[in-house]
Amino acid sequence: MKLFNPVKLFIEHDCISNHASDLCVLGSRAFIVTGRSSASNGSLADVCSVLEAGGIPYAIFNAVEENPSVETCVQAAKESLAFQADFVIGIGGGSPLDAAKAVCVLASDAALDESCMYEKLPGITPLPLAAVPTTCGTGSEVTPNGVLTYHRFHTKSSMPYTVFTAIALVDGKYLAGAPESLLINTSVDALAHLIESYLSAKADSLNRMYSSYGLQLWGILKDTLFAREASEEEGLHITAAMAQQLMLTSTIGGLAISHTGTSLPHAMSYGLTYEKGIPHGKACGIFLAAYMEQYARRNPSDTEDVCFFLGFDSIEEFGQWITDHLGTVSITKAEAAAFAEGLAQNTGKLATFPFALEYADIQEMYTKSLKITE
Ligand SMILES: [Fe+2]
Repeated sequence: MKLFNPVKLFIEHDCISNHASDLCVLGSRAFIVTGRSSASNGSLADVCSVLEAGGIPYAIFNAVEENPSVETCVQAAKESLAFQADFVIGIGGGSPLDAAKAVCVLASDAALDESCMYEKLPGITPLPLAAVPTTCGTGSEVTPNGVLTYHRFHTKSSMPYTVFTAIALVDGKYLAGAPESLLINTSVDALAHLIESYLSAKADSLNRMYSSYGLQLWGILKDTLFAREASEEEGLHITAAMAQQLMLTSTIGGLAISHTGTSLPHAMSYGLTYEKGIPHGKACGIFLAAYMEQYARRNPSDTEDVCFFLGFDSIEEFGQWITDHLGTVSITKAEAAAFAEGLAQNTGKLATFPFALEYADIQEMYTKSLKITE
């Protein structure tokens, strides 16, 4: 058993200004990677103000799209190289943070081009990275992986490098004003990270400290977060304390998967997001119950633990709750068959499930999770 996570992590109110010196020590010229609106919550202004006070010049790339493409990361890296940045700051949800990891690789050497995102090159030392998450699902601020959209392959996939952030500055205040759908989808992403980590082939009693605690936190949060969703109020008004707990839960989910990786629901989600535009959290969430059912047939005590931590009596009750809150997704029989075939060939991801799966089991996870049309 082994625990390892090298990220210097702070989770607190006014995190950026409190730890300005930890940020400014990373380099002398900063390249900020963010989305068009993901830094409108005050996070970008807070980072800029700290850099200005520290006398560190910076440039901003704010064109990271949802599910960032390799092409976008290449463009950002070109701008980083032109600015001669020696460290990168990612601000936003999972998309800007994952794109920032790719920029750290691509901008580490002017000789690199897009091809290095398709095949891992040896000897690359990524630029140092700081992360400021502004959503509560990805956990990317503490994971080494960056998931990018590979249009050439018509899906999302992890880039072939691991990049841990040097410092993660986590502050729940940046969730204020986040749209309700974003909060729900991203918090379900965190839920998927926690469940997949707890049930992973790499789970052990050390790294389950993260997943079991995170699942318990999520179980408490769901009663308030989703009860508010059911109200008639416009928007989702969360308290500062709840925002901080959502961020904490998300980061713990990230710490969990930094040890185990994700598993089948994530692998199944990528095609659904690419082909159908289903948001990442929802695309993972709708597969969770069927995945847990497969696991329960082989080891029911672990899935009973998961249900207990979350406050559900059974997988059936959990599955109904997921359907009630996320709705259903329709795909054709042919699309379902193609997705099942793809997963059956993904031996790396299948190895994250601790038991052997038959092809019929894989098909069943799709048919039970989705509405299949002709
Ligand atoms: Fe995820």
